[in-house]
Amino acid sequence: MRYLLALDQGTTSSRAILFTLQGEVVAVGRRAFRQLYPRPGLVEHDPWEIWESQLLAAQEALKAAGVGAEEVLALGLTNQRETTLVWDRATGRPLYNAIVWQDRRTAPLCEAFKEKGLEPLFRERTGLLLDPYFSGTKLLWLLENVPGLRAQAERGEALFGTVDTWLIWSLTGGKVHATDPTNASRTLLFRLDRLEWDGELLDLLKVPRAMLPEVRPSDGDFGETLPELFGASIPIRGVLGDQQAALFGQAALLAGEGKCTYGTGAFLLLNTGERAIPSRKGLLTTVAWSLGGKATYALEGSVFVAGAAVGWLKEVGLIAESREVEALARSVEDAGGVYLVPAFTGLGAPYWDPYARGAILGLTRGTTRAHLARAALEGVAFLVADVAEAMAEEAGLPLEELRVDGGMAENDLFLQIQADLLGRAVARPRVTETTALGAALMAGVGAGALDPEGVRRAWSLEARFLPQMPEDRRQALRRGWQRAVGRALGFARET
Ligand code: G3P
Repeated sequence: MRYLLALDQGTTSSRAILFTLQGEVVAVGRRAFRQLYPRPGLVEHDPWEIWESQLLAAQEALKAAGVGAEEVLALGLTNQRETTLVWDRATGRPLYNAIVWQDRRTAPLCEAFKEKGLEPLFRERTGLLLDPYFSGTKLLWLLENVPGLRAQAERGEALFGTVDTWLIWSLTGGKVHATDPTNASRTLLFRLDRLEWDGELLDLLKVPRAMLPEVRPSDGDFGETLPELFGASIPIRGVLGDQQAALFGQAALLAGEGKCTYGTGAFLLLNTGERAIPSRKGLLTTVAWSLGGKATYALEGSVFVAGAAVGWLKEVGLIAESREVEALARSVEDAGGVYLVPAFTGLGAPYWDPYARGAILGLTRGTTRAHLARAALEGVAFLVADVAEAMAEEAGLPLEELRVDGGMAENDLFLQIQADLLGRAVARPRVTETTALGAALMAGVGAGALDPEGVRRAWSLEARFLPQMPEDRRQALRRGWQRAVGRALGFARET
């Protein structure tokens, strides 16, 4: 028997899933690690904790399955994107905590670039916007704030990487310093059309080229894991960012096929084939994957808070466990006129305001915790609906159906709310671990054991949620939502 091992390094946990070549889950390993919030708006991870939790999760999955490393055909790696790390080439020692994608510290840097009129250039070359979300300004911040880092980087002694690069480096014992185009396309440093680092953008962000990883295709050869980690070495043959991996795992292989993954945030990706479609509505143009050296592109709408909204309900004590949210929200017919805008880390697509903050509007004396729970679920669904609408318009493709996965996709009530507020069908596949599945399948392709048809065969429908809400009610709710968002925008900007 031969297996594929997927490592899925997410924002709040590191997971590892062992799959058969047909995409069946064999065993799962999972380790959480700490979220560090040094100040409001700042989010960091300890790079050692990222690595250790990922390694332990992988060892756990192999152990649970009773499978030896020599039976694993290939390892596929997928990861939280944009999160930025720097480490010492000689010792492998991190030179700062990882600055997480949600971190807002570079909002002023982004603004300074915007004031210089540079956003159109970044947009045209990279498909991205000047928002603290992306790695480029995080790296500039590190180079300017970590003592000695710039000089070390210029001498080629300090390395930069997104989480994939850090893990490949750690898995190969420092032999491979590489990334793939999906991860590179989230840095503000990478040219979408040529699939290479852009000298002019590197100069603008003052990033020394010597610290950048080599870019290899998503189905490329990323070396072998050190034999002592799993008992034998495993070839690393698939690397791609987690949202792109989910698109692949949802078998959205053709232009016009799309998905939404509800993790910490919610991310909609629409496959646009060989065309990189520029956006005017606050969407991102990004690399979906590069296979056999050929790139497929996607339009992306990034909603920063999804599962994190349920996490917040837990944090403030409205629920004890995340899974309680469904029953609580179901105990009321609607949110009772309450809107919860989950702008805890600013707003991403299509608003892009790092200064937006969470808001709850429409409270009355009759508001209960059930209304708040329902309003939190609706807030996420409203944001996703905003993005889906912009996406369908820009791509010129009516989104017939949204394929969904991730934690909140287990919540039937939430998916019904999503279908209602979207006015479109929502489809849940049998395997909802599509991020890990996508990474595993990519490794299978990289190892020459699978082709895209094998990927399509691994997808099957489990449930479809059809919109049931009358159109006038949907429109009224969307209008209320727009008013609520208007109040949340710009709230944290100092006056
Ligand atoms: O862009 C950030 C994204 O890749 C994080 O995904 O699943 O860790 O919330 P997740």
